[in-house]
Amino acid sequence: MKKHLFILGKNWRLALAEIDSYLQTRDYAGRITDYSSNVAIVEFENEKMSIKQIGNLMVFLGSVQKIGEMIDFIDSETFTDAFPIDIENNRAKVFSGRRYVDNTLKDMVYELFPKIKNEKFFVANSIYPAAFNDPYYKKSLVAYFLHYVNKFFNTYLKEQGAKQAIYYRYPQKNIESGKLNPIFPHHFFTYKLYEPNRVELLYCMTSEGMYFGKTITVADSNFQKEMDEERPFKEFKFTIPPKFAKTLISFLQLAPSVRNKKIYDPFCGSGTIIQFGHMLGYSVYGSDIEKNYIEGTRKNIEFTAQLLEEPIPQKILKENFFQSDITDVHEHFSPEFFDGIVSEPILIPISDELPDTEKIDDYLDSTVIPIYKKFLEQAYLLLKPGRKLAFVSPLIKTSDNRRLNLPINRMAEKIGFKSIQLLSTDHLPEKAIEIENPSFELHRSKFKSIFDGSSKKILREFFLLVKPKTGTKSKSKKKY
Ligand SMILES: C[S@@+](CC[C@H](N)C(=O)[O-])C[C@H]1O[C@@H](n2cnc3c(N)ncnc32)[C@H](O)[C@@H]1O
Repeated sequence: MKKHLFILGKNWRLALAEIDSYLQTRDYAGRITDYSSNVAIVEFENEKMSIKQIGNLMVFLGSVQKIGEMIDFIDSETFTDAFPIDIENNRAKVFSGRRYVDNTLKDMVYELFPKIKNEKFFVANSIYPAAFNDPYYKKSLVAYFLHYVNKFFNTYLKEQGAKQAIYYRYPQKNIESGKLNPIFPHHFFTYKLYEPNRVELLYCMTSEGMYFGKTITVADSNFQKEMDEERPFKEFKFTIPPKFAKTLISFLQLAPSVRNKKIYDPFCGSGTIIQFGHMLGYSVYGSDIEKNYIEGTRKNIEFTAQLLEEPIPQKILKENFFQSDITDVHEHFSPEFFDGIVSEPILIPISDELPDTEKIDDYLDSTVIPIYKKFLEQAYLLLKPGRKLAFVSPLIKTSDNRRLNLPINRMAEKIGFKSIQLLSTDHLPEKAIEIENPSFELHRSKFKSIFDGSSKKILREFFLLVKPKTGTKSKSKKKY
């Protein structure tokens, strides 16, 4: 069965959760058959999924960098026989292993390039190890395998009559240090790797083996950056990063038929989530307690619409974005108005020093928790049954090295929501592997919630809740 390689962003658990949420929908039904901290191997139920459909999916994904088509696979034992760390003491195995790799690469050439004679080729080889700090990456994949595939394409294509066969040259100092990043997603456009005879080849290692593939689509990171960095209203030091805004929207499971689907951010700030919702084609709504933030959000949405070359009517800008305290937002809509609510409500004041546990506990009890409680109550009123609420809440590191979070699931369940585990490990193949790198663990028992710790100052925990189709009230009615 045809498989796809999804190259994961830095927060790979979040990326797996995001991919899995699409695979649970009708349009993208499928499953993750294998994964590492850099790649998810995906099998769609619909074998005839077109490149256009995959391209559309890429537009929605926030935490995925590239999607490729799988071409071949070599199991772990055969591959490491060909490329062991210790070559000197394994000469015989290396010899036969490499013959196998060679044949795999030759088959790949014929699949990729139907005509070779007198043609010009450009190949960019991107290697994704199981984890970048796995010693095997530096000691074998970068030290030997990269050189090997570069040389293979250069010589083999010429032997077959190619006029030119060039490969992408990584900076020598990165190769020597072993700290080599595969080419960035935007290089796909810079080097025109979508054109005939120009490819990015993906080599993705998991505990099962080496997957060989070809990139078919990448995240448009430049456009995303422009939407974020060039927008007219930039009030905050910290706004939600675009990739998280998109990932939260993904969790609502409304794509790809998003036209006329209404989504709402009641703590919209500068409007980041709304900007990306608008870009993806949703009908977007937003409110905030601060009037000037609403003005700013309107400017940012107008800017986004200009970038997309689709002007947005003034009437929508005026009506869909308004100032309101979270307590009163239900007054602006009829009940069960929204198809999705997605937000980054208040975090905590940012300071250079880690806060004292007792002080922050008081602050959470008196200020933060009541706002989240109101938020959950309002969201419950405004969501259509069966629809979802996706948001982040703060995870706070304290001076005595503790981590405090909010009792979200408890509060939500009291109100009537059901919590959805973001990445149900039941959806993933079990991995009985010894992993040297502890950050690459995904044990069933340990894996409860997903958070982002890439910024030292703000840690965000991701939540997904669903308003059940039959609410508690109607259930109790049935009894009598
Ligand atoms: C963390 S910021 C959201 C930033 C936003 N995600 C962005 O990217 O710009 C939280 C927002 O909640 C708003 N806020 C705080 N208390 C509120 C309340 N009681 N009701 C509504 N909004 C409130 C703040 O004004 C702030 O804009």
